Amino acid sequence: MTSTVTAGLTQEGYRYRCILPGSRARKVSAETYEVDFGSPESLQELRQLLVGSSGEIIGAAINFLGISQAYAATGCASGEAALQVTLWSFQFLKEFANDLTAAAQQGGGTVMNLTALDGRLGLGRGGRMALTSSGLLGLFKTFQQEYPTLRVKTVDLDLSAGNTIMGSRLLDELMVDDHLVEVGLSATGRSTVRLERTTAHPTQLGPLPLDKSSVVLITGGANGITYDAALRLAELAKPTLILVGRSPLPEPEGDDTRDLDTAKLRMHLIQQRKAQGQPMVPAQIEQNLRRILKDRQILDNLAALEATGATVEYHSMDVRDEETFGGLIDDVYTRFGRIDGVIHGAGVIEDKLMKDKTPQSYSNVFSTKVDSALILAKRLKPAELKFLVFFSSVSGRFGNGGQADYSAANEFLNKLADDLDRKWPGRIVAINWGAWDAGMVSDELRKLYAARDLYMIPIPDGVQFLENELRLGSRGEPEVTIACSIPKLIEMVSARR
Ligand SMILES: NC(=O)c1ccc[n+]([C@@H]2O[C@H](COP(=O)([O-])OP(=O)(O)OC[C@H]3O[C@@H](n4cnc5c(N)ncnc54)[C@H](OP(=O)(O)O)[C@@H]3O)[C@@H](O)[C@H]2O)c1
Repeated sequence: MTSTVTAGLTQEGYRYRCILPGSRARKVSAETYEVDFGSPESLQELRQLLVGSSGEIIGAAINFLGISQAYAATGCASGEAALQVTLWSFQFLKEFANDLTAAAQQGGGTVMNLTALDGRLGLGRGGRMALTSSGLLGLFKTFQQEYPTLRVKTVDLDLSAGNTIMGSRLLDELMVDDHLVEVGLSATGRSTVRLERTTAHPTQLGPLPLDKSSVVLITGGANGITYDAALRLAELAKPTLILVGRSPLPEPEGDDTRDLDTAKLRMHLIQQRKAQGQPMVPAQIEQNLRRILKDRQILDNLAALEATGATVEYHSMDVRDEETFGGLIDDVYTRFGRIDGVIHGAGVIEDKLMKDKTPQSYSNVFSTKVDSALILAKRLKPAELKFLVFFSSVSGRFGNGGQADYSAANEFLNKLADDLDRKWPGRIVAINWGAWDAGMVSDELRKLYAARDLYMIPIPDGVQFLENELRLGSRGEPEVTIACSIPKLIEMVSARR
């Protein structure tokens, strides 16, 4: 594939340099260089080698990592491999973003990313599905948003169609400026993604696939929007709910603080520090305050779930840890003999533009969603599973400035849902939620939405949409977007170019 593309570029009068993964930055031959993609320092050295002394301009970049042997095999090699291919690409983009932006002012600035999911962006309904590199879709969509003057396109190839055909079609894609950020190329043609408005009609809705004997595993379930989802299921079916979160199960709150509201609690903490002769550190006071309020919320939420008549267990653990989280899944099967449904909502955000984001932060955000989802895919028993819902995000569907890692992770979940839906009989769906008026949504985002006349999903509507998705049953629609103000969101995404 690479040779078809480089030959085509040469024929068109372009010069190219191939960058291969290696242990350090070095020139291997006139056209070939190596770099340690995992090292920002090595990438800086590569940049010096390429443009530093010669003053040459990098006009365009094509990312072949996603279709290289290490990442393009069917399935997902491992969570580490899925992280590595996006993290390496992220670091490369970060290092060369300014060069590409400068080139855009002179007619260049094209950036192309390649994956080989199935040639239809993972949305083809058959054949092979190479999952490992699917996070790249989210990363590059976000890159486009953060660097709006560039021309970014992510192209998903059907490698079974043959390198020569795909290579020449790829060259056409490279030359055409059609403002499409996602394109699939397969033997049968070219495809792209378009959202279609659908609303579940009451006649399409079956019964909720749960009753009091059912067991539902919910990650991220003791607070935030997964708690809201848990409450709806508890009210409807009173099943056994196995909730998993990071926070340790809080001790019951002491009499001294139980009845205090936020303002009084803050005063109480200040007075407590004074009485103990401790220094007044506002950040520490606020941290203590947040912890107490969160613990209070978790206890209130668990009590509210139990009050419905549902049986509730709360487990504190890191869902990235296969031994612990996989062990819990096995244990639930041993104790209850079944898991009927799963909602995977554990996730974190650490928003920062790509230029400011560290590899550690990127890895944390990506792995929290991806590693845990892979553990679920490995340990769940699909024959008995009625539903598996990934709480994904519009950030995966459209990309979102400041959320390169989160977009990548959510796109991975979307494509994992596509893959599992091909193989598993139950309802498998990644819901690309828009912002809810709840959970991880910050006050800043609320202000931004209000300023742009965008709406958030009210909790009762969100849980109703979720319920409808479960009532729709297995239907071969593994990626669904549920958000308010979708036309405006799309407008915002396209207006950035
Ligand atoms: N809220 C929205 O508007 C929105 C929109 C789109 C998508 N989503 C998705 O919906 C899901 C829930 O979001 P939310 O708003 O409810 O967020 P949230 O309030 O921040 O809750 C996230 C939950 O994930 C848990 N968690 C994080 N890392 C974990 C780990 N390593 N191991 C175990 N549990 C972990 C947290 O536990 P602790 O609290 O105990 O730390 C918390 O319960 C996320 O996946 C998010 O991406 C939310």
